Amino acid sequence: MINKNQPIGVFDSGMGGLTVLKQLVRFLPNESFVYLGDTARVPYGNKSPEIIRKYTEDATKFLLSKDVKMIVIACNTVSSIALDTVKAIAGEIQVVGMIDFSAIAAYRSSRNKNIGVIGTKATISSNNYEIHLKHIAGDSPIKLYSRACPLFVPIVEELMFDHPATKLIAEDYLKEFKENNVDTLILGCTHYPALSKVIADTIPEATLIDTGEQSAIQVLRMLAEKHLLNEDKIDFSVIPKIDFFLTDFSANFRKLAENLLGFEINNPKLIEFLT
Ligand code: DGL
Repeated sequence: MINKNQPIGVFDSGMGGLTVLKQLVRFLPNESFVYLGDTARVPYGNKSPEIIRKYTEDATKFLLSKDVKMIVIACNTVSSIALDTVKAIAGEIQVVGMIDFSAIAAYRSSRNKNIGVIGTKATISSNNYEIHLKHIAGDSPIKLYSRACPLFVPIVEELMFDHPATKLIAEDYLKEFKENNVDTLILGCTHYPALSKVIADTIPEATLIDTGEQSAIQVLRMLAEKHLLNEDKIDFSVIPKIDFFLTDFSANFRKLAENLLGFEINNPKLIEFLT
């Protein structure tokens, strides 16, 4: 029996999912969370769909073993490739990915229906955003532009938010979107909200869609619908209860976590998946 006091499970290939956790904490300040970052096997974005599915299975089973009431797939790559894998294992536990609600938000926000998507190589080659957007548009005209931006992930991991090289790379990656009058750009990767300033400076005419934010709104709605929101009195003076599990501790994980999440992560535990 699922109950209100159980935590929400959040899975990402690494630390980037903390940008999604940040949004979840913002919209659901009363909830507790279990965050799993597969930092030993990150990045997923350059890997094959078969491997991504296999890693995702491990992660889903782990989160279920922590008695979560819902699973949020913070990783856009996993959401694009392996959401069905998670759903098949999760059974009655609801699963929320990054794609569908963000596609709706992008469609609604766009005036000229020239919509852009950026993400990892795996996300872009899956065409998942395009499939959703074309489905939403139906017979109405829509123009979609997509581009893999693999360098944005290491740029964020190296905390190079304001580095001049980041601006140059952003200009190159976003050129085609500007030329094609894209007015709405989906940030289809966990790491990209951390670069939203440089992206917005590079393509100021576009509305940026933060997939973590869109999904957090839906998590709130779905939990409310099922009467599964934690109703304990909120104590805003304490940091929300989050249990962190990582598969490796990289040298700068604390600094990166603080940057992406906005507060310190306490006592992450190391777990191991057999590959
Ligand atoms: N979390 C991944 C995503 O959102 C980015 C990092 C990776 O490639 O694993 O697509």
